[in-house]
Amino acid sequence: MKEYHVTVRRSAPEGGEGYLQEYTVPFPDDEIVSVLNVLEYIYRELDPTLAFFDHAACRQAACGKCMVKVDGAVKLACKEPAHETMLLEPYSTRVVRDLLCES
Ligand code: FES
Repeated sequence: MKEYHVTVRRSAPEGGEGYLQEYTVPFPDDEIVSVLNVLEYIYRELDPTLAFFDHAACRQAACGKCMVKVDGAVKLACKEPAHETMLLEPYSTRVVRDLLCES
C-alpha cells in the first residue's frame, strides 16, 4: 500500500477564515492514482462533507471543470497524478465551498 498525505484548504462553516485539514489516503502500490481519485476516496471513506467538482461522465480531461490548485499550480484533478504529499486548494477566489468554485 502507498499512502498519500493530503492537506486540503477548506472553507469555514460560517464563512470567515478557512482552515487546513489533513487526510491520509491509501491506494495499492501499482494503481495509477489521480488527484480526483484521492478526493473521491476522501469523500467516500473519510469525510462526506468535503466539496469538490466531480463529473462522472467526464473524468478524462474533456470538460475542463475539475480544476484545483495542486501545490500552488492549477491542474485538472482528473488528469493530474496524485503527489505523495500535496496541498489542494481552490483554483479561484470565487469559492462556493472547499475546493468547489464558481466557473
Ligand atoms: S472531470 Fe472533466 S476535465 Fe476533469
